[in-house]
Amino acid sequence: MKGVAFDLDGVITDTAKFHFEAWSKLALEKFDLELPAEFESQLKGISRIESLERILAFGKLSGKYTPAQVAELADEKNTYYVAAISKLTQADILPGISQLLADLKAQQVKLSLASASKNAPMILEKLGLLTYFDAIVDPSKLKAGKPAPDIFIEAAKAVGLAPSECVGLEDASAGVAAIKAAGMVAVAIGDKEELAQADTVVSSTADLNYDLLVTSYQQAQG
Ligand code: BG6
Ligand code: MG
Repeated sequence: MKGVAFDLDGVITDTAKFHFEAWSKLALEKFDLELPAEFESQLKGISRIESLERILAFGKLSGKYTPAQVAELADEKNTYYVAAISKLTQADILPGISQLLADLKAQQVKLSLASASKNAPMILEKLGLLTYFDAIVDPSKLKAGKPAPDIFIEAAKAVGLAPSECVGLEDASAGVAAIKAAGMVAVAIGDKEELAQADTVVSSTADLNYDLLVTSYQQAQG
């Protein structure tokens, strides 16, 4: 295992609730639409515009807005989201993650960030974790978002590795699908059934550690 590609939201810090709150506010204000709780997990790993398209489809509003209006609505959601995450600090790093990053660094494992979020560099800065990462993939430069493999292929390439030399860490099923499609070993955090495609599933980030990643990598590579 020469590299680890991290998802951000739900792996390094728990921002899913802020994304969902921002979308819920937008949907209620603009479309008079209440989003069911299931949307929180359905939108995990999905890009900003695609999330909005899914919400519009749910409200039977697909095609009712011009691309410019869609972009404006997405910007508005981001304004709500950025306000909500403005107070993130090191205290918001999920359990086990700081130690894992330090141990991987000490073992000279290359670290890259494979997050669909355009806010990722700002969030890593607030958490005080920016300097750990050797590369951060820019999601706006990719042809296709998760579950397509592009972001994880790019995450390996950006640190000079092949996907087969890396482990990908994810909390979303779309993300696990992307890791596997890229040819990486997938370690997932969350529900065993929902994330069954992963090579290893743990229920909390507190269960993650260097040895677990190495063992998962060795077992998966046979
Ligand atoms: C992912 C989140 O990490 O980033 C999604 O899981 C979110 O819910 C996506 O839509 C895009 O984030 P942003 O910050 O660019 O709107
Ligand atoms: Mg995630």
